[in-house]
Amino acid sequence: DTLGKTITCRAAIAWAENSPLSIEEVQVEPPKSGEVRIKMISSGICGSDDHMLKGELLANFPLIPGHEGAGIVESVGDGVCSVKPGDKVLTLIIPQCRECDSCLHLKGNFCEKQDVLPCSGVMLDGTSRFSCRGRKIYHSFRTSSFTEYTVVPEIAVVKIDDAAPMDKVCLISCGFPTGYGAAVNSAKVTPGSTCVVFGLGGVGSAIVMGCKASGASRIIGVDINEQKFPRARALGVTDCLNPKKLEKPVQEVVKEMTGVGVDFAFEAIGQVDTMAAAWNSCNHSYGVCLIVGLAPSDTHLSLEASKILSGKTLKGVCLGDYKTRDCIPQIVTDYLQNKINIDPLVTHQLPFSQLHKALELYHSGKTIRCVLLF
Ligand code: APR
Ligand code: ZN
Repeated sequence: DTLGKTITCRAAIAWAENSPLSIEEVQVEPPKSGEVRIKMISSGICGSDDHMLKGELLANFPLIPGHEGAGIVESVGDGVCSVKPGDKVLTLIIPQCRECDSCLHLKGNFCEKQDVLPCSGVMLDGTSRFSCRGRKIYHSFRTSSFTEYTVVPEIAVVKIDDAAPMDKVCLISCGFPTGYGAAVNSAKVTPGSTCVVFGLGGVGSAIVMGCKASGASRIIGVDINEQKFPRARALGVTDCLNPKKLEKPVQEVVKEMTGVGVDFAFEAIGQVDTMAAAWNSCNHSYGVCLIVGLAPSDTHLSLEASKILSGKTLKGVCLGDYKTRDCIPQIVTDYLQNKINIDPLVTHQLPFSQLHKALELYHSGKTIRCVLLF
C-alpha cells in the first residue's frame, strides 16, 4: 500500500540541457492538497519535450521530462473531487483551472496556470514532489510523464473512459488534439479549400487529418525528412515538398502550385523561418496562417508589414483551442466510437526501459509517435 507514502520508482532525468537522459531511482512524494499522484501507463514523445531538452525554453534543470501521458490515479490529495484512485486519466500540458481570465472567457484556453511559457518546473505551491539522491528534481509542463509515478495538480489531469486503450490514448493528451483542433476548431478549414502543413510529425499529421476530415481538396505537406512522406500521403496529403530539394523558397513553390496561395497554412515545427514561410504561403486577401509550433524563447518573427493590410490572418493556437478538461474526454470517446482514428499516429511502442532507443527513433525521423509503455 502506497497511500500517503513516498514512492521510489524509475524515472528519466535530464540533469542539464542537451545532455542524455538517464533513468534513475527517484522519490515521488504523496500528493498535497489539490494534487493527484498517477501511475503512468504510457507516454508519447512530443516535439515540445525535444524543445525543452534542447534548452530552447529556459526551463529549470534537473527535470523529469514528458507531458503526453496516460495513467491511472494512485491517490489524491485533500479537496480533489474530479478524479479518484483507479480512474484512467490523461495529463494536460495546458491545464484548465476554470477560474482565471482565460478559462472564464468563452474562447480562451490558455489557462494562466500553465507552465509552458515560462517553465517554472514546480507545483502550484512553488515546490517539487520529486527528488533523486537527496536533490530536488523539477517537473516539466505541470506534468512530467517519463516516470513510473508522477504528481500533477488536479487542474492538469482529466478522467477518461474506462474502455480507453491506454497504450495509445496518451496521444489524445496533447499531439492529436493540438493538430486536429488547429484545423477543425481554430482554422475551421472549409470544404474544397487548399491547405499547407509545415512539419509532418505527430502534430502536423494530426493537422493533416483535421484538414482531410474538413473536406480540404488539396493538402500540401512540407518536411525536410522525406521518410515522413508515405505516411503523410496515406493520411491525406496530396503533394509533398522537401524545401531542401527545391530551387526556390518553399512559399514561392506553394504560391505557384495553387496560383493564388493557400486558404490555410499551418506551422507545426516551432521555428521562426518556417513560420514566416507559412505566412507567405497564404492567399494575400483571405488566407489564414495558424502557428501551432512552439518557437524558442526570445526569438522574433519578422514579417513584411505592408503585406498585412490585404486581409490575411495570423493566428496562434495551442492545444487545438480546446478547453482541455471540458473537451479532451470527448475526443477519447470519439476515438472509441470510431469517429476519429489516432492509430496511424502510433507508429512505434517501446518499454520505458528502452527510452534511449525510443529517443533515437524520434531523432531519426522514422516515427510519427513512439509511445513509451510503463
Ligand atoms: N522544415 C520542414 N520541416 C522540418 C524542419 C524544417 N526546417 N525542421 C524540422 N522539420 C520537421 C521534422 O522533420 C519533423 O517531421 O518537423 C517535424 C516535427 O515533428 P515532431 O518532432 O514529431 O514534433 P511534433 O510533436 O509534431 O511537434 C511539432 O508543434 O506543439 C508544437 O512544440 C511542438 O513545436 C512543436 C511542433
Ligand atoms: Zn485557467
